[in-house]
Amino acid sequence: MARDKTLIVGNWKLNLTVGESSLLVHELSKLVKNHRDVEVVLAPTSLALQTLSLQVNHRQFKLAAQNFYWRDHGPYTGEISAAQLRGIAQFALVGHSERRHIFNDSDKDIRAKVQAAIRNHIRPILCIGETASERANGETQDTLHDQLIGGLANVTSEELEHIIIAYEPVWAIGTGQNAHPHDVSQAIRSIRSQIKHLYGTKQAENMQVLYGGSVTADGASSYLALPDVDGLLVGGASLDAHAFSEIIKKAHKSAGASKV
Ligand code: PGA
Repeated sequence: MARDKTLIVGNWKLNLTVGESSLLVHELSKLVKNHRDVEVVLAPTSLALQTLSLQVNHRQFKLAAQNFYWRDHGPYTGEISAAQLRGIAQFALVGHSERRHIFNDSDKDIRAKVQAAIRNHIRPILCIGETASERANGETQDTLHDQLIGGLANVTSEELEHIIIAYEPVWAIGTGQNAHPHDVSQAIRSIRSQIKHLYGTKQAENMQVLYGGSVTADGASSYLALPDVDGLLVGGASLDAHAFSEIIKKAHKSAGASKV
């Protein structure tokens, strides 16, 4: 898919009951106006996906799974699959740093999940980013490269069109420590140049790349103004209807200014 829309994704992580999730959607639905150039995606607890898929106006909000297992079905107690999410979630986060670092999702798992999502018509949002020590050691580019190769290993050029990359420096997630827009731009340029190397110029130019990590309503515009950034992945601030709708409004403004 070309970079015709700004994507604003709210990752609610392990927060909110199903009832609270439904209430937040209700509040957001009053605050968020539709905009043809902005797509808003909500990633609630998996438990709430079914309820919310019946509740939301799909023109206003799309849904994303935060995680899933890569097999479609079988003896995997406690798991949910992309096949079960099909028709309920249009997107899925894959390789979020909390999955990589707390739950030890390996490149192999991540690659299999990317494949499972695509197989089930769900657009994977592949999250990549360096830790503080990798950054301090000057290893940011290498880390991004390894995570890209790891996640995209089996992806064809046609499949790539369905994938979104989220650049999320691990040290900026949930810390209130903002990445400098200049550094974000540089990292995303390096991501595009690696995509170019792997798939060619057109694919690199068409790749949708988001930024995530302590995005707030105040800071959102400075990232949205970057020509390399096609949207935002928002954690903490997406749990507050007013803060999140402010971020969406800023995306409307920036889409109006038509930077691409
Ligand atoms: P944060 O989370 O906005 O709370 O830093 C971002 C994310 O984990 O995707």
